[in-house]
Amino acid sequence: MTTDPPDGADVPIDWETGRATNLANWDERVPIHEAGYGLDRYREDSAHLSPVVRTDLAALAPFLPDGGVSGLDVCHLQCHIGTDTISLARAGARLVGVDFSPAALASAARLADQLGLDVTWVETDVLEARDAVAGDFDLVYTSIGTICWLDDLDRWAAQIAGLLRPGGTFYIRDTHPILLTMDPDAGELRQRDRYFPNSYAQQWHGEYTYAGEGKLVAARTYEWPHPLSEVVNALIGAGLQVLRLDEGWRLPWKFSPRMVDVGEGDWAWPEGERDRSPATFTVVARKSG
Ligand SMILES: C[S@@+](CC[C@H](N)C(=O)[O-])C[C@H]1O[C@@H](n2cnc3c(N)ncnc32)[C@H](O)[C@@H]1O
Repeated sequence: MTTDPPDGADVPIDWETGRATNLANWDERVPIHEAGYGLDRYREDSAHLSPVVRTDLAALAPFLPDGGVSGLDVCHLQCHIGTDTISLARAGARLVGVDFSPAALASAARLADQLGLDVTWVETDVLEARDAVAGDFDLVYTSIGTICWLDDLDRWAAQIAGLLRPGGTFYIRDTHPILLTMDPDAGELRQRDRYFPNSYAQQWHGEYTYAGEGKLVAARTYEWPHPLSEVVNALIGAGLQVLRLDEGWRLPWKFSPRMVDVGEGDWAWPEGERDRSPATFTVVARKSG
């Protein structure tokens, strides 16, 4: 009898197998997320923007011509069911949404059609995005729950640099890699998992997802931890100039049952603990013009 390794264990999985396992998991999350992401708010209020994009537009403003995305060509990497993509389109940008999940893109396209928004959806691995996506962009955007699914950040950064026009801006806000080392089920802040990369993926088993209700059959996933230095150095290595690096204590998903609702779609550790561990990081970078 073989037993699964414990959650978070290092496993020698190759990228193609890990990626295919993750794809099955992400495809299956889509109907659950369609119920859990509050899509009616987008249908009922034509001005509604996702809380993630509202935060990101404010953070991006100092780095954009005229302080906003209106009139810009934007490529949204790992766009999932398109709520953030649609929000950026509602803010006036021309959008291309990229994801490897056909189920997620079909869902995103349905919502965009219902809302009368003209968005281009491209099914591709993000690590092959430069060849799969037509054109180049003023802004490449990606946020919350992205790089942990990728084994090779140098290849990721090369796609971003290739997609940007000279002078174009890259923006990422994601879960902080330190947070991803913490034990979500511990009664106190406790580090449990690996921070630094090695040649292995971490294997996880999760029958439930972070939004909506319903049990996943394709419950296995593989993640690759990436320290903050690796993210920044991958972008620098791809020729981008890093303009800003921030860390925050608010997180737009509930990482741990101990996290409390702090409003505007965000969660945080209980008061008194928030200044002890970061929850997100943000990087703004630019391609030379
Ligand atoms: C947590 S979602 C991020 C999106 C956004 N934060 C949201 O909530 O709508 C992660 C997305 O990454 C996509 N993804 C994972 N690995 C990928 C890969 N190798 N290439 C392209 N997309 C990938 C998944 O299909 C999923 O839609």
